[in-house]
Amino acid sequence: MDSGSINKILGNIRSFIPANAAELEHFRINYLGKKGIITNLFAELKNAAPGQRKEFGRVLNELKSSAENILLQFSHLGEEKDKSAPDDLTLPAEPLQIGSLHPVSITRQKIVDIFARIGFTVSEGPEIEDDWHNFSALNFPPNHPAREMQDTFFVEKNPDLALRTHTSSVQVRVMENTQPPIRTISPGRVYRNEAISARAHCFFHQVEGLYIDEKVSFADLKQTLYYFVHEMFGTETQTRFRPSYFPFTEPSAEMDISCLICKGAGCAVCKHTGWVEILGCGMVHPNVLDNCKINSSKFTGFAFGMGIERIVMLKYGINDIRILFENDKRFLQQFVSAT
Ligand code: DAH
Repeated sequence: MDSGSINKILGNIRSFIPANAAELEHFRINYLGKKGIITNLFAELKNAAPGQRKEFGRVLNELKSSAENILLQFSHLGEEKDKSAPDDLTLPAEPLQIGSLHPVSITRQKIVDIFARIGFTVSEGPEIEDDWHNFSALNFPPNHPAREMQDTFFVEKNPDLALRTHTSSVQVRVMENTQPPIRTISPGRVYRNEAISARAHCFFHQVEGLYIDEKVSFADLKQTLYYFVHEMFGTETQTRFRPSYFPFTEPSAEMDISCLICKGAGCAVCKHTGWVEILGCGMVHPNVLDNCKINSSKFTGFAFGMGIERIVMLKYGINDIRILFENDKRFLQQFVSAT
């Protein structure tokens, strides 16, 4: 076959544009099928003069790869055809990718549910807070170290505003707007200007609790927290209170629970003490009640605040807080069936 004819075939192949899968299949049979044009030309190769055989072979290979390129280039036409084919209803269903709640959300919801059962409603406040709600109304002295730059993210243009450092600010907002009885919990995100490490992050979540009424006592606080711990971690979990200090409560305490990992025997999580701290609490300071226009000679109350991540890490045996904020799907997918 002369080179003019071959070039014509090559031109035909290269300019071919199939409109659908049937045309593509026709093209394949026409050129590459058992009796196709290219297949027949390969059969002629052995008849070529020995001096021309090499060049003829090279040209045929070019024809063949051009035709194969066309098949590859338009292979999606075949796939589209498959899609329009009627579904085979006997095929097993493809597994659906189901999203999951984040473990922090799962745990926050659990805490809210536990307190809802004993009459606590949910209240929320802004994450950008003023000095009054985050500090002053909570009885922080003007020069208290917690106000200093290393702890608080201030809003540059307005030094009176900062990202709230705790959800205790919501207490103030609730008390300013409601007269007792008050029974509320306030879950939310808080911010601290801290170096990020396995144990600390510059933002995390807290749940604040507040109960104000006539004759609320420290015994009420303890019973409420015992109830919470037993619901959250199981009735075999031990608790202990240690005296502490917060400007907004008097007396103040911190509550520990027996380590869930080693059951009190001592391990790295509890630093070999058998106990882990889970919250701060106390009786609301009369100054705080007065600041919020609640009569402190008539009403008393308790408050508590806990970090959600701390509880997530204890419950799920997670030893690095950073993994909670990396959005690594391999981590998050493990909570698909968690409740
Ligand atoms: N706001 C405290 C903190 O962020 C936690 C806290 C302690 C809250 C005692 C309270 C409380 O309501 O009574 O560390």
